[in-house]
This record gives sequence, C-alpha cells and structure tokens, in this order.
Amino acid sequence: MLVYLNGDYLPLEEARVPVLDRGFLFGDGVYEVIPAYGGHPFRLEEHLQRLENSLRAIRMEPPLTRRQWREIFHRLLDPLGDADQQLYLQVTRGAYERRLHAIPGTVTPTVFVMSNPLAPRDPELVARGLAAVTLEDIRWQRCDIKAITLLANILAQQQARDAGADEAILVRDGLATEGTASNFFLVKEGRILTPPKSAHLLPGITRDLVLELAREAGLPCAERDIPVEELKGADEIWVTSSTKEVMPVTRLDGRPVGNGRPGPMWQKMDALYSACKARLRAGPTNQCHE
Ligand SMILES: Cc1ncc(COP(=O)(O)O)c(C=O)c1O
Repeated sequence: MLVYLNGDYLPLEEARVPVLDRGFLFGDGVYEVIPAYGGHPFRLEEHLQRLENSLRAIRMEPPLTRRQWREIFHRLLDPLGDADQQLYLQVTRGAYERRLHAIPGTVTPTVFVMSNPLAPRDPELVARGLAAVTLEDIRWQRCDIKAITLLANILAQQQARDAGADEAILVRDGLATEGTASNFFLVKEGRILTPPKSAHLLPGITRDLVLELAREAGLPCAERDIPVEELKGADEIWVTSSTKEVMPVTRLDGRPVGNGRPGPMWQKMDALYSACKARLRAGPTNQCHE
C-alpha cells in the first residue's frame, strides 16, 4: 500500500517520522477521515474547510493548498479502483530539535495521508442497532478541533466496550454532547433533534449532511441542547460519522430505545443517505442533490 509522507509516495512499511515529532511527543496535530465512494472523496470541500479550521485553532498554517490535497487523494485512490475507501490525513507541527511545550518559531509540519478500505456496515449490526451507554464527558473545552490527542475518547470508548456496549454518548453539565467518535441525533414525537455546534463537540460532516437531508425532505428537525434525561426518553437515537454513516442506537444504558428496534425515521434518513452516496459513486460531485 502506498502512502503519502511529506512530499513522497512510498510503501507504508517504509514511512518513518522522527521520534522528536511533536505529534509523537505531545499529540500536537490534527487529522481528518474522508470517505471515498467510487473513487470520489465525499464532501471533500467540507472536510478541507474543517481541516483548515482545526489548523487555525492550533495556530498552524495549512501546509498544502486544496488543489494539492486533491492531487494527493487522487494519486492514492486512483490505483485502488472503485472500492469504497477511507482517506486518513494527519498534520502535526513537525519535529523540533528538543522537547519544548511552547510552539517553536521554525518547524516544518509533518503531513501524512493513507487510504484504507472502508468496509460496508455489518447488515446484522445495522438491523439490530447499536448499544450505547452515557458517560461523563471528561474532555477539554475545544472538542470542535479535530485533534489527534484522543486519550479521553479512547478511555470512554473502552469503558463502553467493557460495559458490553458499542459507543458512549458523553454528557457534560447534564447535556449530551456527542459520541466518542460520532455525533448523535434523537427523534421524539416525529422531530429530529441534535445539539447545536459549540466548543463541546466536533462539527461532524455527517451531522451537517443529515440535517441538510432532513430539511430538504421536509422532515421536522432542530438544533438545541439535549438534557441527558431527554435522551433517555427518546423514541429513536442515531449516531453519525463518516465511517458509521447513520447508525441506529437501540439500547441506551441497558434499556431499549423506543421499541428497541431501528425506527421509521432512521429508515427514511438511511435511505436518503444511501441515495446521496450512490449519486457520488455515479460521478464526481460534492453535491448530493443536483
Ligand atoms: C468526537 C467525534 N465526533 C463526531 C465525529 C463525526 O464526524 P464526521 O461525521 O465528520 O466523521 C467524529 C468522527 O470521527 C468524532 O471523532
């Protein structure tokens, strides 16, 4: 498998970064995960915009232009044919001559990109739905930055696994924020709800698309704070991410969500999302709706 590292294309086994890289020492960097369907990156401009926002928030300049990113993605994707892929890109502040918390004046960023197969969702799991638990959100105050520093997310995800669940929905000051690697939606009495964007959650590309699809289809939806008690009384819960897409959650804290099966509103949204992917497979466009 060929990967991109700092201007070169080389086999993964040969890709090396120095141990003084600040990504390795401090987790000083940001990343993106971009699905590609039929060889076409999905919602590419939105992902690159979020990358630029994350970089600005950690006081870095974009190391490459959007055109250069696109060239790299196509160089990695083109030999892989039409199979679904997930592009992973990471930018760290780079390697400085010594370990220093303050941001060094001159340091060259490390830029890494690889593409891995995006396995189709397990149909049994989709039919059964995910189990989730609620956990206290112990992360920092800038969860809107897609930082590679993911220790709190890792620990929460493992705590969910230890409890026999698939995902944790995090709760800060009584309000549900997001999953460990996903945003969430709930449905109550026919209305789709999700928390508004803030520093407490990642502005998910899938989240935005779900809202867009809901509005276009005339499904009632709103962005507002969601107390954890309201989440517990939901008719449906979904989690969304670029790799999970829109997944139903059918158990929360060991209790069934609604009737314990993926709900009718999820079915509608999943169909809209699938249609959107199918359109991209048919031809390169960043839009879902012509
Ligand atoms: C913490 C967190 N929230 C939300 C998401 C969903 O974001 P997206 O839909 O852009 O994949 C992710 C994705 O990995 C995530 O890590």
